[in-house]
Amino acid sequence: WESDMKSMTYNAPDVAAQKAASLVSREQMEHFKLLDLGTGTGISGVALRRAGFLGDISALDGSPGMLKLAMEKGTYSDETEHLLTSSNPLPYPDQSFDMVVSVSSFTKHHIESDCLEDVLRVLKPLSYLIATVRFDRHMQDYKARFYNELDRLEAAGLIKICSRDKYLHYRWDEVSDEFEVNFEDQYAHVLVLQKSGNN
Ligand SMILES: C[S@@+](CC[C@H](N)C(=O)[O-])C[C@H]1O[C@@H](n2cnc3c(N)ncnc32)[C@H](O)[C@@H]1O
Repeated sequence: WESDMKSMTYNAPDVAAQKAASLVSREQMEHFKLLDLGTGTGISGVALRRAGFLGDISALDGSPGMLKLAMEKGTYSDETEHLLTSSNPLPYPDQSFDMVVSVSSFTKHHIESDCLEDVLRVLKPLSYLIATVRFDRHMQDYKARFYNELDRLEAAGLIKICSRDKYLHYRWDEVSDEFEVNFEDQYAHVLVLQKSGNN
């Protein structure tokens, strides 16, 4: 995964980390407790440290192999092997985190949109979930489910959708046309969702 990503220039971890940093004060950066949801090999943890987060960052991933690589980077305070589904909620108490960052993990065959409400549960009131989400041609069903769920959560007063910015997720300059790439698929969204103050 990491070597594939290097050949394409994978921007998502830094985009998410910079977005996260833009939402907090210098003081909050020093002690905020973060969850990196769908940690993978831990590139996002490195990006969060680079962006200035100094507090605990918890790693959670369904794959033990990915977690092992992530922990070797030395950036995470603890690791949890857990496959998040609607029937297998996160193994953390309510309101455990000051922020959740999830890079490329809310996607088809990974974390489903019906898990969003459980992610909100582990966030403190008024805290943020920052998620990068790709919506290429092969993910139209997922996109519909994801945005329906965001609309439902917002209508129920559980979240505020603060921003949704398009960014260049991969740079494919060196990928040749023989792979039939659609260059629009290089883009993704970085979303900022704020948990409401009354749940
Ligand atoms: C596309 S990778 C992204 C990894 C990392 N965030 C990054 O940007 O490099 C998605 C990760 O989410 C994990 N994952 C997928 N579905 C999951 C689930 N339901 N619960 C926990 N982890 C999951 C996978 O094991 C994988 O490591």
